[in-house]
Amino acid sequence: MIETPRPGQYEVVPAGSPLADLLAGAKTRTARAREYLMCPPERFTVEYAINPWMDTDRPVDTELAVKQWRGLRETLVRLGHTVHTLDPVAGLPDMVYAANGAFTVDGHVYGARFRYEQRRAEAAHHRAWYLAHGWSDFHIPEHTNEGEGDFAYANGLVLAGYGFRTTVAAHAEAQEALGRPVISLRLVDPRFYHLDTALAALDDETVAYWPGAFSPASQRVLAQLFPDALIADEADALAFGLNLVSDSRHVVLNSAASGLVGKLAARGYEPVPVELAELLKGGGSVKCCIAELRR
Ligand code: ARG
Repeated sequence: MIETPRPGQYEVVPAGSPLADLLAGAKTRTARAREYLMCPPERFTVEYAINPWMDTDRPVDTELAVKQWRGLRETLVRLGHTVHTLDPVAGLPDMVYAANGAFTVDGHVYGARFRYEQRRAEAAHHRAWYLAHGWSDFHIPEHTNEGEGDFAYANGLVLAGYGFRTTVAAHAEAQEALGRPVISLRLVDPRFYHLDTALAALDDETVAYWPGAFSPASQRVLAQLFPDALIADEADALAFGLNLVSDSRHVVLNSAASGLVGKLAARGYEPVPVELAELLKGGGSVKCCIAELRR
C-alpha cells in the first residue's frame, strides 16, 4: 500500500531556520543598477518632533550629517548606481529624507501629501524635480501619503503601510495612479511609523521585515505573500537595520544594525554598512534618504 505523506512530513528544512537561510544563501545574487534621488542635509536640524525619535533638546551636528550623507552617496555611486540630487530648501529641515517625496513604478509617479504641516511644502519641490526630469506622468494626490516612506515594491506588488502617516484612501489612489496591485499593511508600533522602518525589498522576490511592527492580520498577509522572507527581530528594527537599500546583491544599511548584517550574509547578500548616526536624530536612516526611481 502506498502511503500518502502527511503535511510537513518531508519538510526536513523548516522555512526561516538558519539552515534554510544558508541554503537560500548558496544562490548567486546578481546586482541590478539602480537610479536614486537624494537631497543633502545642508538644512537638517531637529526643530520640531513628529516621531518618537526626534528630540528638540538634543543638538544636531549638521556638518557631521552632511559628511555621513556624502559617505552614503559615494557608496551608492561606487556600487554603480546613478544618484540624482534634489536641492535642499531653507525652512524644510526634513527634506534630507527624500524617500518621502513621491513613489515611482513603471515610469509613473505618485506624488506625496505630507501628514504634518512642517513638511507639507516638500511635495511641490519633489514634483518640480520629477517634471523637470522627464517624468511626465505625475499624479498629484488627493490623499495623505508619504511616498516611499510608506510604499515599497516587491514581486510586482506595491506594499503600502498605514496607521501613522499614509492613509488607506491613498493606497487605493496609488493603485489607480500606478496600475499595480497595492497591498495594505497596518503599522501598529509608533517607533516604526513608516513602512520603510520595518520592511524592505531585498530583491525582486524577497523582503525583510520585523513582524512586530504590523497588526496580526497584516503579519499573516506578509507570511502568505513572502513565505521566504528574511524575518528580522526587534533589535534589527530598532537599529534602523530594515531602513535599507538593496540592489538585489549589495545591501546598504546602517552600521549599527550588526545583527542583521549576519542574517543578510547567511542569505548570500553582501551587506554594506554605512555610518549614518546623525540622521537617526530625525528618525531616519539609509532608506529614508533615498527615493528609488523605477522607470
Ligand atoms: N523626521 C522625518 C519625519 O518624521 C523622518 C522621515 C523618515 N523617512 C522615512 N522614509 N522613514 O517625517
